[in-house]
Amino acid sequence: MSGKRVAIIGAGVAGLVSIKSCLEEGLQPVCFERHDDIGGLWYYTEQLRKGQGAATYDSVVTNHSKEMSCFSDFPFPKAWPPFLSRLRVHEYLHSYADHFALKKYITFNANVIRIETAIDGGWTVIISNGIGGKTEEIFDYVMVCTGVFSETHFPSYPGFENFDGIKIHSNEYRDSGKFKDKRVVVVGAANTAGEVACELARNGSIQVFLSMRNGTLVFPRIGVQCIPWDLLSSRSVVDRGRILDKISKWRIQDHTKIGLQCSEPATASIMANDDIQDRIVQGKLEPVVGIEKLGKNSVTLVDGRILDDIGAVVFATGYKIAFPFLKDTWVFDESDNLQLYKLVFPVGVDEPDRMALIGMFASAGAAFPALELQARWAVNVFVKRVKLPSKEQMRAYIEKKPKYGRFYRSISTLPYQEELAEEIGVNPSFWKMLISDPRLAMACWYGPQVPYTYRLQGPRTWDGAREAILSVWENTTSPTNSYRS
Ligand SMILES: Cc1cc2nc3c(=O)[nH]c(=O)nc-3n(C[C@H](O)[C@H](O)[C@H](O)COP(=O)(O)OP(=O)(O)OC[C@H]3O[C@@H](n4cnc5c(N)ncnc54)[C@H](O)[C@@H]3O)c2cc1C
Ligand SMILES: NC(=O)c1ccc[n+]([C@@H]2O[C@H](COP(=O)([O-])OP(=O)(O)OC[C@H]3O[C@@H](n4cnc5c(N)ncnc54)[C@H](OP(=O)(O)O)[C@@H]3O)[C@@H](O)[C@H]2O)c1
Repeated sequence: MSGKRVAIIGAGVAGLVSIKSCLEEGLQPVCFERHDDIGGLWYYTEQLRKGQGAATYDSVVTNHSKEMSCFSDFPFPKAWPPFLSRLRVHEYLHSYADHFALKKYITFNANVIRIETAIDGGWTVIISNGIGGKTEEIFDYVMVCTGVFSETHFPSYPGFENFDGIKIHSNEYRDSGKFKDKRVVVVGAANTAGEVACELARNGSIQVFLSMRNGTLVFPRIGVQCIPWDLLSSRSVVDRGRILDKISKWRIQDHTKIGLQCSEPATASIMANDDIQDRIVQGKLEPVVGIEKLGKNSVTLVDGRILDDIGAVVFATGYKIAFPFLKDTWVFDESDNLQLYKLVFPVGVDEPDRMALIGMFASAGAAFPALELQARWAVNVFVKRVKLPSKEQMRAYIEKKPKYGRFYRSISTLPYQEELAEEIGVNPSFWKMLISDPRLAMACWYGPQVPYTYRLQGPRTWDGAREAILSVWENTTSPTNSYRS
């Protein structure tokens, strides 16, 4: 090891890949996690933990298939189905941490409360143990891995305080139990809103209203020939946006006919959901417009309709980003413009090449591989294998390319992964490979853009990458096809 120390804040997915990437490059990782287990939001507890932002509900299932969601050198077990329960994801994270011996670098119940510029360069990190004890340590580099969904976004409406029923943000929602025999309004138009509304409609709520401001675009997990939706995109596809449009029509040809219409499809929310059309046509779930105000036990919609006898409102209205521990070190514009070069390096600090933020994006695609590439790029910058442009150049880049997707920080996952892979030198070269290994070249180019493809060349290759790439279809279909001869 080089002896250079890296503070890693958070032991969720981003924290784990950061520890591993530091080890790969000979850096000394020291990870602080404020809770008592790894996994971040995949560490499920019945009650919200102190300070927890995003959380999953009990029934959550990944909305990306396992071959697109895994780390680049650690496939999910072959026997697992293509889409995974929260239990399986958490188990996978534990086996990843065990396999690469990452846990010994993590201090649990260690809450980072402040990061300051150290006098001689680097960073002073101040940590609280939650029971009155505070420590201070100096580090050469910092990787902030505290999650993009730090605080709940909880919109307020006139009458909000006077509403008598249950009103919760979706991060508190665990299952349908306490909503039984109630008329419930779920607010939001994205993944959580759709899944929660469907679960309530299936499991005993009398009636569920899904209140959306702009409608939504629904896409199913599997479609034509039972192929997971995200295995359809490949490096050879030019217009990837059109694929999502096509997929959204696999199950629901016309969103308008079942009330899910978007006033402006290009800016509408996206929802992975396999059930919503059935819940709607069976009458238990009704999409409605946005909310104007709340009464004691009613909700008035912007079109003037009053929903009576409402026993609960669930706000599946998303999250806000926050870095309370960085307050004096790095100031960013409250309008959400974080001034991060390629969403990783904070241009506003004195030495951007000594601090990296891993995971400050939202995406329609799987997050794990993008988090991993961000971490790999960051440590390559720390060890000076890769150099950042000047601050002026980085600022100009951010100005020129302020948006990665529909919203600020919302990335088109696959092009973004390629961009990072180019930075590190791990994006596979099709023409070179076509000569040396034509079968693999075709799989990389015309097959799904799986994470293993970033372990074929450049620094830190993985011997199992070729085999993993060629086994994608077998690994996807075999677990759900056990009775074939
Ligand atoms: C309901 C839900 C479902 C999702 N489903 C999918 C999916 O199917 N597929 C997918 O790819 N992505 C999914 N995501 C996106 C998800 O954000 C990523 O998969 C990933 O878990 C993000 O990991 P992270 O490490 O960046 O953040 P987190 O999981 O939020 O981890 C952050 C960690 O930092 C710790 N921390 C925070 N502040 C401090 C501090 N000051 N000091 C010490 N520790 C601190 C926290 O305790 C936590 O452990 C989902 C998100 C949600 C909310
Ligand atoms: N694996 C899974 O199946 C799964 C399940 C749940 C969540 N997730 C992930 O978890 C993350 C968070 O998802 P999320 O659905 O909780 O949040 P989200 O994606 O941020 O969506 C928030 C929703 O709330 C709506 N909204 C925001 N403010 C509103 C307001 N004032 N009034 C009405 N509506 C408002 C937004 O729509 P408009 O702004 O268009 O109105 C949007 O539809 C995402 O990364 C998602 O992919 C995954």
